[in-house]
Amino acid sequence: MHSPTNPTHSVAGLLAEIAEIGTESLRGGYYRPVFSTAELDLREWFIAHANARGLDVEIDAIGTIRAWWHLPSRVTTGAVLTGSHLDSVPGGGAFDGPLGIASALVAVDILRARGFVPEKPLAIAAFPEEEGSRFGVACLGSRILTGAITPARALALRDPDGNTFAEVLARNGFDPGAVDADLNGIRRFDSFVELHVEQGRALIDLDAPLAIGSSILGHGRWRASVRGEGNHAGTTLMTDRRDPMVAAARAIHVIRDLARAIDGARATVGRLQPVPGGTNVIASRVDFWIDVRHPDDAVTKALVEEIRSTLGVVAAEEGCHSQLIEESFSSTAHFDPVLRTRLESMLEGAPVLPTGAGHDAGILASVIPSAMLFVRNPSGISHSPEEYATDLDAQIGAERLADVLQGLLAGDHPG
Ligand code: GLV
Ligand code: MN
Ligand code: MN
Repeated sequence: MHSPTNPTHSVAGLLAEIAEIGTESLRGGYYRPVFSTAELDLREWFIAHANARGLDVEIDAIGTIRAWWHLPSRVTTGAVLTGSHLDSVPGGGAFDGPLGIASALVAVDILRARGFVPEKPLAIAAFPEEEGSRFGVACLGSRILTGAITPARALALRDPDGNTFAEVLARNGFDPGAVDADLNGIRRFDSFVELHVEQGRALIDLDAPLAIGSSILGHGRWRASVRGEGNHAGTTLMTDRRDPMVAAARAIHVIRDLARAIDGARATVGRLQPVPGGTNVIASRVDFWIDVRHPDDAVTKALVEEIRSTLGVVAAEEGCHSQLIEESFSSTAHFDPVLRTRLESMLEGAPVLPTGAGHDAGILASVIPSAMLFVRNPSGISHSPEEYATDLDAQIGAERLADVLQGLLAGDHPG
């Protein structure tokens, strides 16, 4: 590790600049869905900081931003990638995503302040729609680029207002016809290191500011639809109802119990939408989304099948019909052991931790060696306004990211 350096900006200072962007007055925290005004403002902030550092900004067909610290020779193979995302979940915290971008900018400052001259190019990426909070598919940008989702399926995804991803891209000046996987673009990089706020409490318990990631828990999203009969809340006897809300409520309860019975499983219903949604209206349909995670993909699939059959039974008992559709799935991802060992030697003593949260690094790991760094979160809470990192830990994170990038950019190892 290197001794502390004084960069132009602190991570906390950079994040303070965007603290008012996309705040949620009702739910608290932030809502910065991809291509919303808030997320576009964050893009401008990132690009302004890239320009201020003389980094070359490249924006691809789906809006991924890459800010390049090029070599004079403009070599574009054997490059190193860092960065994260700018979009957020509804009511999210300030750090999930932007911490990785701000830390990468500060890491460049730190490397320059050290007088370090890279032997390979570096790019800082902001991947679009990591959370999938607008179009439903998590890590949509990295999935498109790696070919994990077809352009046709991605472009047809709809946001809650009915706009397709293709329409939203076009409205933002992109050509939907140009959307395609870009494996050659990704293979310009021989490593990706994503720094992220920790989303659990392992580093609190270990009393350490930073960890190296080992794996990402397999996870997927399924949309359940229960159809019944919309009717009047006052004139419809309790015995005459086909109420999908009751079926959904019963199913959600069983989903919790099914997941609890399996060691290491998680199942969450965090979003539910009654149609049409009125106090004195029996819903005609209820949609709800189920997030299921387990280290063993076969266990996840088996749990989802149990959920499917339970939902069918409960819906039938309430006089309703149900459907369960997979929206996205990611197998458990294990980060490249060679890259991880290199990080362990650069960050002596840093603990190595698995995570239950999904990340673009987990998607890119199927194409290029990828790794993650986690910065301690003193609340142990994430996807909530409570998520945070202290100014000191955030700065330590940038400094350690600079150590790692310095090692990877020095060119004394292949990849
Ligand atoms: C993303 O943060 C996820 O784990 O869903
Ligand atoms: Mn994230
Ligand atoms: Mn997240």
